[in-house]
Amino acid sequence: MKPNNRELGTCYYPEHWPEDLWQTDAEQMINLGLKWVRIGEFSWSRLEPKENEFSFEWFDRAIKTLGEAGLSIILGTPTATPPTWVIKKFPDMLALDADGRPRGFGSRRHYCFSHEGYRNQCSKIVRKLAERYGSNPYIQAWQTDNEYGCHDTTISYSSSALNSFQSWLAKIYGNDVNKLNEEWGNVFWSMEYQGYDEIPLPNLTVTEPNPAHALAFRRFTSSQVTTFNRIQTQIIREYSSAPIIHNFMGRITDFDHFDVGEDLDIASWDSYPLGFLLDRAGATETEKNIFLRQGDPDFQAFHHDLYRAVCGGRWWVMEQQPGPVNWAPYNPEPLPGMVRLWTWEAFAHGAETVSYFRWRQVPFAQEQMHSGLLQPNSAPAPGYFEARQVKEELDASPEISNGLSDVAIYFDYDADAAWNVQPTGEGLTYFQLIMDHYRTFRRLGLNVDFVHKNTEDFSGYKLISVVGAIHISSDLISRIATSMATLVFGPRTGARVGNMQIPKNLPPQINLVKSRILRVETLPSNVSLEIDPVGRAGRYIEIIKLDNNASPYLKLKNGQVIATKEESGVIYLASMIDQKGLTAFYQKLFKEIKLDFLLMPDGVRRRSTEIEEFWFNYNNKVVQTKIGEMKPADIIRLPRV
Ligand code: GAL
Repeated sequence: MKPNNRELGTCYYPEHWPEDLWQTDAEQMINLGLKWVRIGEFSWSRLEPKENEFSFEWFDRAIKTLGEAGLSIILGTPTATPPTWVIKKFPDMLALDADGRPRGFGSRRHYCFSHEGYRNQCSKIVRKLAERYGSNPYIQAWQTDNEYGCHDTTISYSSSALNSFQSWLAKIYGNDVNKLNEEWGNVFWSMEYQGYDEIPLPNLTVTEPNPAHALAFRRFTSSQVTTFNRIQTQIIREYSSAPIIHNFMGRITDFDHFDVGEDLDIASWDSYPLGFLLDRAGATETEKNIFLRQGDPDFQAFHHDLYRAVCGGRWWVMEQQPGPVNWAPYNPEPLPGMVRLWTWEAFAHGAETVSYFRWRQVPFAQEQMHSGLLQPNSAPAPGYFEARQVKEELDASPEISNGLSDVAIYFDYDADAAWNVQPTGEGLTYFQLIMDHYRTFRRLGLNVDFVHKNTEDFSGYKLISVVGAIHISSDLISRIATSMATLVFGPRTGARVGNMQIPKNLPPQINLVKSRILRVETLPSNVSLEIDPVGRAGRYIEIIKLDNNASPYLKLKNGQVIATKEESGVIYLASMIDQKGLTAFYQKLFKEIKLDFLLMPDGVRRRSTEIEEFWFNYNNKVVQTKIGEMKPADIIRLPRV
């Protein structure tokens, strides 16, 4: 048996604690079995209290204490929290919201990604840190900034954003602004521009802005995040060969993580299952009650699988909720055993490291109600004991390795942006559509991979689902088609060409699909249409003209076709459908293509590694499963057959 290859860690803020605690803390972390400790990501005001007055000695001592105790350090760059002197120096570096109001000082992430002066200021502090600690043996990894996009901070309507947006457009469209007018359709409502300097940001318009304009701005904004991050990674790499990580967030989709991932070595994300259930997972009120202390059974796994794709397989959980958080609408205690379950679920999905946020609950400021592994008085909190249990279990476990999944979902941040600028129905999002398909695969007991525009090899999958990808190039479709997998397209895949234009020959713009979308209707969420034989269609429904050589694959009870089997063999699904309907749809398809599945009991999920099967019970009650009874928060591990 190869020994386990997974590690635990925690997030630590030496600047929050008296120096004489550092040593004890470090020793206790080691005793608990932690390998990693992340520091520094919010400490700018202590590292550079005034411009060019650096104060690194305390940080040197903290690093030495933690390192000598045997911990490996992740050094975070502090650029998510520019201190007051930076704001005084650049009053216009604050991001502006859609109403044109500056995001105020007094919390974090108040900067605009496009501000040149701020970027330079960040370069300076990052270079200082990289110079000083780049070859320090205790610094074994870096984290850039903290949670790009968190607190709705990707988009800024500042004058720096405006200037950079105009130059960005000029680069794309060249000397002739008419090309842009043409592509955006600016003749509509006399929106034609004579020069790039006339193009505003798409906020504060009387009614909705041109979707082409809004989408271009979102694409631009995404590029700003990539550039901002790249500035830091390039500097760090001049001085250090340690891997560079960023901690992404749950359900933040307003910049392209695959682009940012190109400059990182390891992707990571911050997993707060109980907070996410209540504020972003899209759960119903009933689900919120059932899973209140456990979290959504698919939300964590979704992000594990998504972020596994961002850096070609290497990923961590940089922050794991260890007890109640402080920021969700309500902040319940996890059910006993859930901290252990979340940690193991991450490992089963391939995480190299799971790091708990935070070591000790802090008695002051915004997060004083947020739990840590330790209470403010240093007594262990419940999460501490679960982390210890995981460590003991890890030590007795075989190596975990992940193979390819049978099914893959194509994920596209640009599609998310396009849905956002043109939802066509209240609350319709790309994320929800993708989540519907993901959940269905998990309910059928399957492992899922995500593939994306930069995936080099699509082969090895039995089925790839490409839904909601509003703009998708024919080149990419051909590359996906070489995989030999069964392909499921739609709804809305290939619905637009160029920049938000309806294809001349009607959608979808997919050469493997000859049936045409004549019209689209969207419906309120409390109205839906019955599917034959089971489930309901609703929210977004395309009205199809069936190609002569295609056959109906799924129909409504009223006879309307909502999925086709095309002559090319691909399936085009023309509607959003509920879990029941989607489960039946995929069960039928899996039987046809001989893909093994197993319908899981509600709230129970499984994940197979190369040699084991993990079953996780997200329910707050005992459930009977095919492999035996599972108590709340139970994990069962079996050899894979
Ligand atoms: C994360 C963030 C941490 C901390 C934590 C609280 O989003 O990265 O700094 O604020 O949330 O749950």
